[in-house]
Amino acid sequence: MISQSELDRVNRVAWNSADAARVFTLDKTYSDLGEQAAFEWLAPRCAGEPLLDIGVGTGRTIPLMTAISNDYTGIDYTQKLLDMAKTRHPQRDLRHMDARDMSTLQSGHYGLAEFSWNGIDCVDYSDRTKILEEMYRVVRPGGYLLFSSHNRGGPGYQENIWQLLPHFSVNPLKLGWRTLRSMRRFQLGTLNYVRNMKLNRDYGGYAVKTAAAHNFGIVIVYTTLPEQRRQLAQVGLHCDAVFGSTEGNRIDDDVDESDTWWFHFIAHKPFAASRFD
Ligand SMILES: C[S@@+](CC[C@H](N)C(=O)[O-])C[C@H]1O[C@@H](n2cnc3c(N)ncnc32)[C@H](O)[C@@H]1O
Repeated sequence: MISQSELDRVNRVAWNSADAARVFTLDKTYSDLGEQAAFEWLAPRCAGEPLLDIGVGTGRTIPLMTAISNDYTGIDYTQKLLDMAKTRHPQRDLRHMDARDMSTLQSGHYGLAEFSWNGIDCVDYSDRTKILEEMYRVVRPGGYLLFSSHNRGGPGYQENIWQLLPHFSVNPLKLGWRTLRSMRRFQLGTLNYVRNMKLNRDYGGYAVKTAAAHNFGIVIVYTTLPEQRRQLAQVGLHCDAVFGSTEGNRIDDDVDESDTWWFHFIAHKPFAASRFD
């Protein structure tokens, strides 16, 4: 049984909001260029293998994953989003499950376990380690992990309520429409921002802060490159590649700072792995 922290409670409300359902069904393919680069890196290495899609939401990643392999399982702890995924992809194996406890999934089975669109940022830091340990457990020796995480040094970390104000336009009709539209968002966003900012903390290597998504309805972790590499090594994973979301560029192993919005980390479980096995 997973105990619910305040951060957990806030984020679960956001996943069940109408805004989450709207954003997650925009029919996006890749979330960003970095995700595309990460999938291109992984596709030949995981072709035909069992794939695990964690935090599948309404199913955006299902076509991306099943283009690599038909042996596919998706999980999510938000029943509402999972039901939408089931309606959109009735033939797929989609299960209601929390990533912090995937004990019903076989150990050492998957060629790839993936947690997309910064989903791992939405749990407490100790739970983040728990999720990485679970991902480690379920992949086979040599199997891969892919997840994205917000950059503590990126523009997302500077987000504040002023960005909910309407963008200026010389066209009075456009400006009027934008002002009307932003009024409700600004009200709701301000309320959420003020309520959630009490959870903001900066621990140096990583930080916790309310983010603009879903009208400042979520509170998430922002990591630095050295801290994420440290955490991967602590779990026993080898970091293979990091891609930046903004340009899809590969970030070298010796680079410690970047201004990309978020990172895509690819790591693998060493063949000689012994933990949890
Ligand atoms: C930002 S959304 C991304 C949805 C989908 N992967 C996509 O890219 O469109 C994050 C998803 O992760 C799920 N999630 C967050 N924490 C989770 C956890 N501990 N266990 C399972 N799912 C989780 C949420 O319910 C939500 O569907």
